[in-house]
Amino acid sequence: MNNSWKKVLIESTPQKWIDRALKSLDILLLDHAHCEKKAATTIISLIHKYPEKNLTQYLLPVAREELLHFEQVTELLKKRGIPYKKLKSGPYARSLYQKISSEEPYRLKDSLLICALIEARSCERFQCLVPFLKGSLQSFYSRLYESESRHCELYLNLYTKIFKEDWSLRLKPLSRLESNLINKADPLFRFHSGF
Ligand SMILES: [Fe+2]
Ligand SMILES: [Fe+2]
Repeated sequence: MNNSWKKVLIESTPQKWIDRALKSLDILLLDHAHCEKKAATTIISLIHKYPEKNLTQYLLPVAREELLHFEQVTELLKKRGIPYKKLKSGPYARSLYQKISSEEPYRLKDSLLICALIEARSCERFQCLVPFLKGSLQSFYSRLYESESRHCELYLNLYTKIFKEDWSLRLKPLSRLESNLINKADPLFRFHSGF
């Protein structure tokens, strides 16, 4: 199992978020479904924006996997009698994407790093939740931990492959922002929210 995700996160999820998540599993699952769908659409838009980078061969399998996760979460929602519906998204991803450079090649660099960061936090949150869950949700989240961990590593490797440089320096300010976003009280509970 790879542990790349540990290298990109500065801080762990606060216990208060875990406590809130366990009391809000319906919202967590609904938001999680939207996150998987967004992960797939983000990849499609990267493939669309950068045809010259040949991202398809690396990222299309990931997009397919994210869509499968989306389908699996929606099935879980159905089984639990939770209707799939729109949900106001939290500020987490939006705040990170606001930091993306408007100039290339920095724009693609930041995009890949933010994708890696979001995958890393998802991974860490699955790991936080798994010991407290039961049955099918526990085994599902354990499997997702493995997939999202692989995705995180793939984005980081893709960065190195395309730009022939180490990603750690450019990641630092984004990691700091990410850590601030999860370490504050948040009126809106979401999969990637603060507490
Ligand atoms: Fe996923
Ligand atoms: Fe993923």
